[in-house]
Amino acid sequence: MKFKTMSVIAAVAMALPTFSMADPDDDKLVINGEIEVATKVAPAAHLDGALSEVMSGWHFRNDDTQAMEMDDFDNPGMLGAENGMAIWEAAEGSEGKSCADCHGDPAESMKGVRASYPKFDEKAGTLMTVQMKMNECRTERMGAEAWKYDAGKAIDVEAMIASHSRGMPVNVAIDGPAAPFWEKGKEIYYTRYGQLELSCASCHEENYGNMIRADHLSQGQINGFPTYRLKNAKLNGVHSRFKGCIRDTRAHTFSPGSDEFIALELYVASRGMGLGIEGPSVRN
Ligand code: HEC
Ligand code: HEC
Repeated sequence: MKFKTMSVIAAVAMALPTFSMADPDDDKLVINGEIEVATKVAPAAHLDGALSEVMSGWHFRNDDTQAMEMDDFDNPGMLGAENGMAIWEAAEGSEGKSCADCHGDPAESMKGVRASYPKFDEKAGTLMTVQMKMNECRTERMGAEAWKYDAGKAIDVEAMIASHSRGMPVNVAIDGPAAPFWEKGKEIYYTRYGQLELSCASCHEENYGNMIRADHLSQGQINGFPTYRLKNAKLNGVHSRFKGCIRDTRAHTFSPGSDEFIALELYVASRGMGLGIEGPSVRN
């Protein structure tokens, strides 16, 4: 990959190590020797030339981290997904039902779900994420309490659900009733936050491929979520990642599950249209 000149990042006066982690362009992501994942695709028309090629964050990680994602036995995120499967099968709440009682085998019933969310929900009249749908089932169908957003059980079950869409292309609807949410997400993406006055685009559109401190900047795509991060040794949700990135600009940030992050999730997903789902992926 080519490295662009430093601009915004330099202005922020970050220490800039040498460019040593560029991965060869021909790396291919195949999981368990059988699931082929598209990690480089042509940009969607709505990107209007903002990116010349759309790339998964997997390409920006070093060979060891990349390899961990290529085999379920080496991918620590799969332990979360396994736990998610145990939760799926356990009855909970006043109705005495489990997810499996209604949805059966998630390999069938949840196939493709991660790739098409967030999605406008006619009944609820709003944009919903996978975690919101899970909580709707818990509160309205199981008589159980909603799970905390991006935490514990919610993230493990989401990882399990995502694993059944691996290799399928991100395909979110951004037109019709989803359009106003997409517009709102786009506005947030280009808003400059905090003392450092950086937007998502300052780093992930204008500077991907460059190093920021010791980190190789990616396009900030979300096809790999939930993501097992070596840094905090756990599965991380999309909104928690957004929160961390905004906090790094020294700005006041939004909360996981907020309207702002739900809209931003749709917009960021749409920037990765066509990338293969990787969740649970491995990142540093
Ligand atoms: C009593 C039956 C029932 C139980 C129990 C149940 N669900 Fe559901 N679930 C449904 C129905 C019905 C829908 C479709 C509702 C809709 O979209 O309006 C649904 C939809 C979903 C969706 C969206 C799927 C899609 O294709 O868009 C997800 C994700 C989901 N459920 C997860 C869960 C999880 C996780 C659990 C356990 C914590 C669970 N459900 C428990 C009945 C149930
Ligand atoms: C100061 C630069 C900076 C800003 C501003 C920033 N990020 Fe990040 N972001 C990073 C770094 C560094 C990483 C870790 C390396 C990587 O994957 O790019 C990261 C990682 C991510 C990831 C994980 C990608 C993956 O493959 O797992 C996502 C998603 C993301 N950012 C989204 C955003 C969004 C959305 C915004 C705006 C709200 C934003 N970032 C703002 C620096 C930034």
